[in-house]
Amino acid sequence: MRRFNSATGGSTRFLIINVAIVCSLHLDVRLATAAKQNADCQNNPSSCGNIRNISYPFRLNLRDDDPRSNCGDPRFELTCESNRTILYLNDDHGAHYYVNAIWYKNWTIRLVDPGLQDGNCSSMPLFYFTSRWRNAHGLYYLRSYKYVVFVRCKSPLTVKSYGGEYVDTSPSINNVNGSGSGSGVSYSYAILVKQVGEIPEGCIIHAMAPTLLEEFGNRSFPEIHHQLTLGFDLVWDSSFSGIYWEYL
Ligand SMILES: *[C@@H]1O[C@H](CO)[C@@H](O)[C@H](O)[C@H]1NC(C)=O
Ligand SMILES: *[C@@H]1O[C@H](CO)[C@@H](O)[C@H](O)[C@H]1NC(C)=O
Ligand SMILES: *[C@@H]1O[C@H](CO)[C@@H](O)[C@H](O)[C@H]1NC(C)=O
Ligand SMILES: *[C@@H]1O[C@H](CO)[C@@H](O)[C@H](O)[C@H]1NC(C)=O
Ligand SMILES: *[C@@H]1O[C@H](CO)[C@@H](O)[C@H](O)[C@H]1NC(C)=O
Ligand SMILES: *[C@@H]1O[C@H](CO)[C@@H](O)[C@H](O)[C@H]1NC(C)=O
Repeated sequence: MRRFNSATGGSTRFLIINVAIVCSLHLDVRLATAAKQNADCQNNPSSCGNIRNISYPFRLNLRDDDPRSNCGDPRFELTCESNRTILYLNDDHGAHYYVNAIWYKNWTIRLVDPGLQDGNCSSMPLFYFTSRWRNAHGLYYLRSYKYVVFVRCKSPLTVKSYGGEYVDTSPSINNVNGSGSGSGVSYSYAILVKQVGEIPEGCIIHAMAPTLLEEFGNRSFPEIHHQLTLGFDLVWDSSFSGIYWEYL
């Protein structure tokens, strides 16, 4: 995608040659790396919980004496804790996500925020995942277009006051009615936005999570919450598969 950007002005033949070279380079690297993986990596891949096949480029952080401890690429290391596969983002906040699925065919890893418990609509995402993260790390690309943002607002949202999609989260996530010091009344909603910055006036964000949902439609908050517990998709970097930008 980034490469295409530089090829403006329609020299299509140049572009194709360029693509071919890039692909074959990636292929060579991939074959060379694959050859180094020992047979255990292929025949007996590591597994953790419901993720049965953890293969290149991923590796599980196993004890050094495990023959599979050198499988995959160290930058794509996953952790197994209490039978759950976890991806740590290595950022300042200790952000991490449960791995719900890995699809090698389309280089997709599906993650879910560990704060979200299915069936408990009071449970909230723990971490802020924004596209800024992608730039810092470059290994993964966010493959979901929208975010569910939990907001607290000074006054109730109405169709008139806010043009976007929103649902009232009470009674699962309560409106605050501070009889004591401070902020006073606030009203809690979940809204669906394309950019995390797009929040209604007079509201503050208290949690957010990327979502596979395209729209709220007439879904209730419990249905939306359930959707959030299914997670969101990241696509891992092109150089590990060669042609992701063709696919994107
Ligand atoms: C771990 O998860 C797998 C797959 O869900 C399951 O078969 C296994 O019994 C679990 N092991 C433990 C110790 O919970
Ligand atoms: C695990 O997945 C990889 C990548 O799709 C595949 O090549 C390999 O055959 C699978 N291994 C097993 C034991 O299913
Ligand atoms: C990758 O494939 C899986 C299984 O077919 C699908 O559910 C998922 O949406 C795909 N991911 C992307 C980013 O298209
Ligand atoms: C539901 O989530 C809330 C908020 O995280 C938590 O305080 C509560 O204990 C959870 N309830 C259950 C039954 O786990
Ligand atoms: C806040 O409390 C007051 C007084 O108890 C009540 O009249 C009002 O309806 C409450 N507002 C909300 C948003 O719960
Ligand atoms: C939501 O709307 C669709 C059509 O727009 C309808 O088929 C469906 O029954 C509605 N669901 C609920 C829960 O109202």
